[in-house]
Amino acid sequence: MNVSQIELRETVEADCLPQLMDLFASAWWTAGRTGGDVTRMLAASGLVFALVHRASGRLVGFARVITDDVYLAVLLDVIVAPDSRGCGLGAMLLDAIVGHPRLATVRSIELVCQPDLMPFYRRWGFTEQVGRSRLMRRTADPLLTGD
Ligand SMILES: CC(C)(COP(=O)(O)OP(=O)(O)OC[C@H]1O[C@@H](n2cnc3c(N)ncnc32)[C@H](O)[C@@H]1OP(=O)(O)O)[C@@H](O)C(=O)NCCC(=O)NCCS
Repeated sequence: MNVSQIELRETVEADCLPQLMDLFASAWWTAGRTGGDVTRMLAASGLVFALVHRASGRLVGFARVITDDVYLAVLLDVIVAPDSRGCGLGAMLLDAIVGHPRLATVRSIELVCQPDLMPFYRRWGFTEQVGRSRLMRRTADPLLTGD
């Protein structure tokens, strides 16, 4: 797969929901999501990024951002389809996110990732330099509190 074959969209239409559920089924923290919850999530997410293979219409990448447009944006659910990884699609998503006009003046963009993903995000200026800050989380999701 070549990035020139891929179109970036800022919506996921209802007819694309089954494909988004397939994408979510491929990642450990999104696998248990339901269509109803994901529909509500899409409606409430400030910015949605979808990568669609032009010729087939297949959804091959997704990410979303919630933001107050001024101080903080949080990057969530960055996922490229397993059979399409390593072709530059993850980079295409991150380029679109950090280059988005709505995020250009937002003071901080934050994300949570596993240690092995840190080199990936460093390319776009994300660092571990968070001062004395520590992540705290109040969650009903047991997946987010395990090892
Ligand atoms: C992380 C993910 C989005 C990267 O997507 P991708 O399409 O494979 O990434 P790209 O092909 O655009 O890679 C861009 C560059 O980052 C590098 N990279 C990709 N994954 C990496 C990783 N885990 N660690 C370090 N570097 C990585 C690539 O080697 C590539 O480098 P290059 O330009 O020198 O070749 C994808 O692997 C994925 O969906 N993983 C599962 C879901 C997940 O864990 N998402 C992150 C949630 S925080």
